[in-house]
Amino acid sequence: MGRFYITTPIYYTNDAPHVGSAYSTVNADALARWHRLLGDETKFLTGTDEHGQKVFDAAHQNGHEPQEWTDQTSRRFREAWDALNISYDDFIRTTEPRHHESVQKFLGTIYENGYIYKDVYRGLYCVSCEDYYTLEASVDGKCPIHGRELTDMQEENWFFKLSAFEDRLVAYYADHPEFVTPETKRNEALSFIKGGLRDISITRTSISWGVKVPWDEEHVFYVWYDALINYLTAIGYGRDEAEVAKWWPYSNHLIGKEIIRFHCVWWPAMCMAAGLEPPSHVHVHGWLLIGGKKLSKTMAAEGGVKLTDIAPIELTNEYGVDPVRYYLLRETSLGNDGEFSLEGVTHRYNTDLANNLGNLVARVCTVVAAKCGGRGPSPESDSNLRTHAEEALEANVVGWQTFNPQSALEATWSLIGATNAYLEHHAPWKMEPGEALDAVMGDALEAIRLVAVLASPAMPGVCEEIWRRIGLAGTPTDRDFASARVWGQYRGEGLIEKGAPLFPRIKSEE
Ligand code: MSP
Repeated sequence: MGRFYITTPIYYTNDAPHVGSAYSTVNADALARWHRLLGDETKFLTGTDEHGQKVFDAAHQNGHEPQEWTDQTSRRFREAWDALNISYDDFIRTTEPRHHESVQKFLGTIYENGYIYKDVYRGLYCVSCEDYYTLEASVDGKCPIHGRELTDMQEENWFFKLSAFEDRLVAYYADHPEFVTPETKRNEALSFIKGGLRDISITRTSISWGVKVPWDEEHVFYVWYDALINYLTAIGYGRDEAEVAKWWPYSNHLIGKEIIRFHCVWWPAMCMAAGLEPPSHVHVHGWLLIGGKKLSKTMAAEGGVKLTDIAPIELTNEYGVDPVRYYLLRETSLGNDGEFSLEGVTHRYNTDLANNLGNLVARVCTVVAAKCGGRGPSPESDSNLRTHAEEALEANVVGWQTFNPQSALEATWSLIGATNAYLEHHAPWKMEPGEALDAVMGDALEAIRLVAVLASPAMPGVCEEIWRRIGLAGTPTDRDFASARVWGQYRGEGLIEKGAPLFPRIKSEE
């Protein structure tokens, strides 16, 4: 048993959460739940990124003071995460005093260590990215991501000596081949570093909505510079060094591909400058796209995609919490881009959930209720389903370990498929009550028990319900995986309950 600290990016509070933000969060949640199942001591952090020009502008455009606006918007993120059954252990807001304190301590240390100096900065700024571009990196003077006009800005700022860390970063990447995954993203970050690093401007005087620079109170830190430190604030940086020592070596940041440079170049360098090891692992995921376009808040507003149609809460109201979670985890490999569509959600729902999983549980419970006196019989020790189960168990270990929920779920659904095929083969609905029937049903129930354990990080609510329906006490996650995974443990403790369909088919597709 180990330790696992997982974080999502903190979300900008310029607008409400959407299904793209839900994507990062649900994946991190499932990973956290898997590690809790393993018995690992786990901490799962998410939160909101509340400073910067973008949030400040959004507040005023909506007729609010920034604090009042971020209070409201941050609450909407929590509500969305509650609706999606997100099991975060901490929700950080960058406007909290604990964060200001950690940021000032962390950057104060970098300053004392001689890596921060004052200079004049001139560059092309994109407010949507909260980032500067060089003319070469722009597309005809426009932002390469948002396509909006860049602003020519000139400020006297404090700078971080990023250039001093080029060699150290290259060496760190060489010594830690698993620092950034998948490998394509690691290579991308590394070639960025090898392409030469320029010092970065880390403070602003143009706005006051931010964390004050402790040695020069006219300035606030540039939003990205305060935001990254949230991962340390939440484990007590500057307040509780024992907590930092406890969690930091086990840190995993899950991030979207457009924020690689911040997390895989700036952030490890900042940690080095503050005398701290870089985070232990960054996993980069792709984008959910609608018709080939990234679903970001700014672009939705500009491109006319109605984002409110796909707000997480509306999705869960329409399809149920677990089906939405399942879709987000299963449809796309965590690392590649993926297409999001309501047709896709309906299709996964009807095929994987209604036809495969729902049908399996329903047919097993019906036969046991009718022919086995309502109590589930025990499995056979040498069933041929056991081989399928063992393959699925192993593939889950690898899939979750490598941040690939899709492959873990594929393996679990192969076990569901094999169990359905096993039932087709034996046709227990045609068998007479007796030992032979009991053996088939015991095996099927054991496979369902394991499915409920394996699918629980993705669909915690449904898996508890399945557990109850097959007559088991407690929940699928009461025991750690090492003891729950052993074949042959199913013992019907209560009456089997057929109940209403777990996933009533969605008709619109037919
Ligand atoms: N505030 C910064 C992160 C600071 S972390 C120290 C930020 N916020 S964001 O709200 O714009 O994005 C947060 C995360 O949501 C990013 O990882 C981003 O990739 C993810 N997503 C936003 N839209 C997305 C999709 N359409 N698809 C997948 N993920 C997307 O960046």
